[in-house]
Amino acid sequence: MTPEQVDLIRTSFDAMWPIRRDLADLCYNRFVELAPDARSLFGGDAEKQRMKMLDMIIALVASLDERPMFQSLITLSGHKHARLGVQPSHFVAMGEALMWSFERKFGAFFTPELRDSWRALYATAQNEMLRAAGRPSSF
Ligand code: HEM
Repeated sequence: MTPEQVDLIRTSFDAMWPIRRDLADLCYNRFVELAPDARSLFGGDAEKQRMKMLDMIIALVASLDERPMFQSLITLSGHKHARLGVQPSHFVAMGEALMWSFERKFGAFFTPELRDSWRALYATAQNEMLRAAGRPSSF
């Protein structure tokens, strides 16, 4: 990712913080529409589902930090997700749900440059997590 993309994501993260609960709900609901088979992995509690969405967004942004500690979070999380039964197709659905919710919430502020930056970040994390779990990462 370019330094400009990193800056764009950090700025958008600050802007999303006040609306994080709505964003997380929107993302979760869209995700389970796209991947209904993954619903059971999250359990039935709406607050926990929301927290998992926020954990994901926070982990994505934290992985921009070049310190190995933050980057290894993604690798460790990849193992954990594989143990939970998260499939490569779920990662694709989650990426789509995330972009869809950003578009809905940010409207015109979700510029093509910002979208490309988030896509690049998500794709990097997804591929790292799948690779750590020994799964093909051809997405
Ligand atoms: C790049 C994409 C993703 C990132 C960065 C990410 C990150 C995280 C993080 C940081 C947590 C909390 C800490 C942990 O339990 O490891 C978490 C939990 C969780 N994630 Fe993800 N996640 C991603 C994609 C997904 C996808 C596609 C699913 C699909 C089912 C998923 C399902 C879950 C579940 C069920 C939990 C809760 C685990 C538990 O209850 O212990 N995640 N995720």
